[in-house]
Amino acid sequence: MAAFICGTGSCLPAYRMTNEEWTQYVETSDAWIRERTGIESRHIVREETCVSMAVQAAKSALEQADMEAGEIDLLVVSTISAEHILPCAACEVQQQIGAANAVCFDLNAACSGFLMAYHTALSGIETGMYKTALIIGSECMSHLMNWKDRGTCILFGDGAGAVILKNSSRPFYLPAGHSDGSKKDALLLRSRHSGEIDNFTDPQYYMQMDGQAVFKFAVRQVPEVIREVLKKNGLKQEDIRFFILHQANRRITEAVARHLKEPLDKFPMNVDHCGNTSSASIPILLDEMNRKGELHRGDKIVLAGFGAGLTWSAAVLEW
Ligand code: COA
Repeated sequence: MAAFICGTGSCLPAYRMTNEEWTQYVETSDAWIRERTGIESRHIVREETCVSMAVQAAKSALEQADMEAGEIDLLVVSTISAEHILPCAACEVQQQIGAANAVCFDLNAACSGFLMAYHTALSGIETGMYKTALIIGSECMSHLMNWKDRGTCILFGDGAGAVILKNSSRPFYLPAGHSDGSKKDALLLRSRHSGEIDNFTDPQYYMQMDGQAVFKFAVRQVPEVIREVLKKNGLKQEDIRFFILHQANRRITEAVARHLKEPLDKFPMNVDHCGNTSSASIPILLDEMNRKGELHRGDKIVLAGFGAGLTWSAAVLEW
């Protein structure tokens, strides 16, 4: 009873912030950001919230799948940036879209969160526990980053992406996933409730990152986990139409393609206009490709996520 994606949706905030605008906040330049990251602009919330973007992405995925919200059995929101700790964002989305029959919860695995939500939904459908699942990645990264730290702030953007999974007779592919808590300091964001910080202007209250350590980790582990997921499922790289990676940085994607000796056109990217939207990046990119008609029935696609924790993961799916 393997699941397939029967609908996708996404939502990007109306306000688009160019690299040039960052020069008002930090000493940087459009050229530096483009060259080091491939990012040209990102969307930043003004009126939108984590939940409002998730709701819009969910509604457009439901419309595309031609489904009613009441048909959803499982609703998972992957986020690190919801407005409320209680209730979970998934319950707020449930109420706003009318998914009255869904079991709802949030999941935090940082930038790997969408992959982890996908695995969770997949296993629930595979065991027969659920028939349908709505999984959403929604992030307001602009609320978490230090707008005075040029090494991190220029990387991130806000947005949401959603996919609907439905049971089907398509082949089931085992996912692969790993975590290494010993590297927790590579990407760190202390909670307001940690009791360690007295003052919200303290830089420790915002995201801190060892950029080079994260870069090296991603370039080493992502090709490895992709090879692992293919081996687990008896597939070869040439069977794969697209490798859809978490959109952190163009240079990371290029390095992964080089390691796998695959042409870059098998690695779609939207980091140029979205920046790094954490767990929203993969479903936003999937939705953009889907709506452009770039995904075709029977295409085998690898998804790969990586980020804080450290966490990294890959999945194969058939479109
Ligand atoms: N504009 C201009 N200069 C900047 C800058 C910016 N936005 N950010 C950093 N610099 C400067 C540094 O201060 C440093 O200056 P110095 O040589 O005078 O000390 C110089 O640029 C090089 O800094 P460094 O950190 O070595 O750059 P880098 O080549 O490693 O690029 C990242 C920085 C963040 C772009 C890169 O490390 C990266 O992409 N890491 C992965 C981050 C990531 O994707 N995180 C999320 C994963 S989910």
